[in-house]
Amino acid sequence: MFVSDCLDINGHGHLTIGGRDTVELAQTFGTPLYVMDEKQIRENCRRYKHSIDEFYDGKGLVAYASKAFCCKAICRIADEEGLGLDVVSGSELYTALSAGFPPEKIIFHGNNKTADELTSAVQAGVGRIVVDNRFELEMLNQIASSAGVKPSIAFRIKPGIDAHTHDFVKTGRIDSKFGFALETGEALKAAEAAIKMENIRLGGIHCHIGSQIFDIEPFELATRVMLGFIAQVKDHFGYEISELNLGGGFGIKYIPEHDPVEYEKYMRQIATVVRETCTEFGINTPFILMEPGRSIVGPAGITLYRVGGIKEIPDIRTYLSVDGGMGDNPRYALYQSVYDMIIANKASAAKSETYTVAGRCCESGDLLGEHVPLQKAAVGDILAVLATGAYNYSMASNYNRLPKPAVVMVNDGEARTVIRRESYEDLIRNDL
Ligand code: LLP
Repeated sequence: MFVSDCLDINGHGHLTIGGRDTVELAQTFGTPLYVMDEKQIRENCRRYKHSIDEFYDGKGLVAYASKAFCCKAICRIADEEGLGLDVVSGSELYTALSAGFPPEKIIFHGNNKTADELTSAVQAGVGRIVVDNRFELEMLNQIASSAGVKPSIAFRIKPGIDAHTHDFVKTGRIDSKFGFALETGEALKAAEAAIKMENIRLGGIHCHIGSQIFDIEPFELATRVMLGFIAQVKDHFGYEISELNLGGGFGIKYIPEHDPVEYEKYMRQIATVVRETCTEFGINTPFILMEPGRSIVGPAGITLYRVGGIKEIPDIRTYLSVDGGMGDNPRYALYQSVYDMIIANKASAAKSETYTVAGRCCESGDLLGEHVPLQKAAVGDILAVLATGAYNYSMASNYNRLPKPAVVMVNDGEARTVIRRESYEDLIRNDL
């Protein structure tokens, strides 16, 4: 019935998440409020992990892409579930290390890491640093030399596949700020340089072909292209790269019409393609990494708002304003992303109305959705926006100096705050 398994309706006709009444949560913790179901997050982690165990003999690592939602609690959960962690900034790295995440299971990404960030990563003993360009390669080699260590790196490769078009097979798509191009020979030349470097070890290659992808085919194609590069490096330099990181990007159900691929099916097919292609190219089967972010946390989260003014503009539309908006969820303003919504205190009533859901920022584009089917709303109702666990908190801003909402984690009926609500004092803390 719902886009996520953790949601239900209780005897009061209220929406529940992880067994907790969302109307009560809104009363207890205030609004706007992010709520996440821990059980669902852990289950998603396990499904990915089991699929590697089952279909690829456990020869791989699932790393949670923390850019989807980063805080100490989620790092601990990922660790407890045996996952690795993808970080993309010094501060995500700092969060992970502060949570006690094992550095050897961290993958450090970024297309323009600073010298300070690379130094911290090297000093912390981060397991894999994904190198984006020649400048970074040279800089990292220097930093590692000064530190007297030899970190393992992977190259970010542009496999030339755009998974967001129907015609996804687009080799020659080298216009991206991320990574080394294959077509121009840039990647091969960089590999030659890296192999000769004394202070780094070229362990893997990485690609990330997009996000919210519903098909397996572009991943299969990317796998073949990437294995082709491993074979090319072996032919040219007699050096065999042993790890293949296929990034994240698996789509989730935001609205009932969405039909994501089951993670198990994904891994089964990729494992088959890897085995066949490796035999064909005469290379060893690599250790596989994948980096799901959205599909781990997205379906497990919702955002609760209190309904304020309702403004009917005859023959045009009815605006329903809530006490949050683009500050806590900029995805509609940025990408016109669609969400399923529900009036949490009227969850069993029919969705008889259509609203434009507006936020409270001083900006006309501050909307959470247009043409949104909803129950008839009244001032004071609780609006739940579903599947907001990914790229909502992590992309939140303080525009209009609005404080960021709290994040509450529910687990089998228990609720605990994992990120406190920002206060006005927090917002002026660094002002002089
Ligand atoms: N690995 C790398 C290197 C990535 O760049 C990303 C996402 C991921 C893994 C995780 O991808 P996921 O499984 O979450 O799709 N802000 C956008 C999404 C940007 C994704 C950027 N990279 C949104 O709100 O839709």
